[in-house]
Amino acid sequence: MTRHVVVTGANRGIGLGLVRLLASRGERVTGTARDVDAADALRSTGARVLPLDVTSPESVRALATALGDEPVDVLVNNAGASARWGGGVEGIELDVCTRLFQLNALGAIAVTQALLPHLRRGAGKTILHVTSMMGSIADNTSGGSYAYRMSKAALNMASRSLSIDLRGDRISSFVVHPGWVKTDMGGPGATVEIGDCVEGLARLLDGDTLARSGKFFHFLGHEAPF
Ligand SMILES: NC(=O)c1ccc[n+]([C@@H]2O[C@H](COP(=O)([O-])OP(=O)(O)OC[C@H]3O[C@@H](n4cnc5c(N)ncnc54)[C@H](OP(=O)(O)O)[C@@H]3O)[C@@H](O)[C@H]2O)c1
Repeated sequence: MTRHVVVTGANRGIGLGLVRLLASRGERVTGTARDVDAADALRSTGARVLPLDVTSPESVRALATALGDEPVDVLVNNAGASARWGGGVEGIELDVCTRLFQLNALGAIAVTQALLPHLRRGAGKTILHVTSMMGSIADNTSGGSYAYRMSKAALNMASRSLSIDLRGDRISSFVVHPGWVKTDMGGPGATVEIGDCVEGLARLLDGDTLARSGKFFHFLGHEAPF
């Protein structure tokens, strides 16, 4: 059966690559963009394009309304941003921390909450949150990057709670580190091509996703430390 997959932040980068791959496989995909008028690349994949700013409660509500009573099988919370990397304690900018928490952590929660009725109606029952190893407490040996690290650590915690709270609905929630990917965020020096990254993400969306619930994966498929 064809799945309906919703991918946030799908107008460029990893989100666009994932939509392109899934659409080419014949999946029914809805990709979201903040500016739908500038989302030609996304539209060219054949996916349906809907507007979404994950930090705007009105925009999140409008997405849920636009989806009507359609089932959603898979939600990929991909939208996100980073800030200046590194920086010591003196370099912590609280306003940037707030902005990234709002976007990377609360944005994914808001979209999940709004689309829960759709996910409950779906057969796939899967939520994949795109996180980062920068959000791993166990992996943090270099410090710095407070805003991004904390926002992704919070996302990881939210995903774990969702996996527990949605167990009764048989909805899976897990986080995936996509690699260091050649996107606007990753930069040209990154080591992973978008195509390889999204192949990995797609593999994690196949099979028994409930068995993955509550866990943290590397895009190559192995588990990562929280
Ligand atoms: N690239 C890497 O190496 C890397 C590594 C680890 C984790 N990640 C994670 O992977 C995800 C995708 O990153 P990427 O590398 O593809 O970054 P990207 O190329 O910068 O794309 C980010 C996407 O998120 C969207 N977005 C930003 N703010 C948004 C908002 N308020 N509401 C809705 N959408 C918003 C952007 O839309 P606009 O075009 O409108 O800005 C864009 O579509 C992020 O969660 C990122 O943290 C990336």
